[in-house]
Amino acid sequence: MRFLALDKLINIEDGYRKRFKIDSLELILAKEGDEFFAFGAVCPHQEQSLDEAMIENQTVICPRHNFGFSLQSGAHVEGFCSSLPVYTVHFEGNEVGIILAS
Ligand code: FES
Repeated sequence: MRFLALDKLINIEDGYRKRFKIDSLELILAKEGDEFFAFGAVCPHQEQSLDEAMIENQTVICPRHNFGFSLQSGAHVEGFCSSLPVYTVHFEGNEVGIILAS
């Protein structure tokens, strides 16, 4: 497990949304209210970008067909689509990032 720093906390306000591409990983770091989320940048249904996706009730809503994905598990809310990758947000010092398995 290793920490991958994405941004400094001082840069992040409520409503923050930023896409990162690191090797083959493409993800979005977001802050809504007091909560931070990190999730795959592309919808698993038909590869719609999630840069502008709405987040509510710990769910990200794809703007193309309005499928919702849990930001805790990545699961499609209605249960018939593949899951969205989600990542554990972690803080170290003044940085925020994700925990990677290796
Ligand atoms: S492309 Fe995202 S719900 Fe269809």
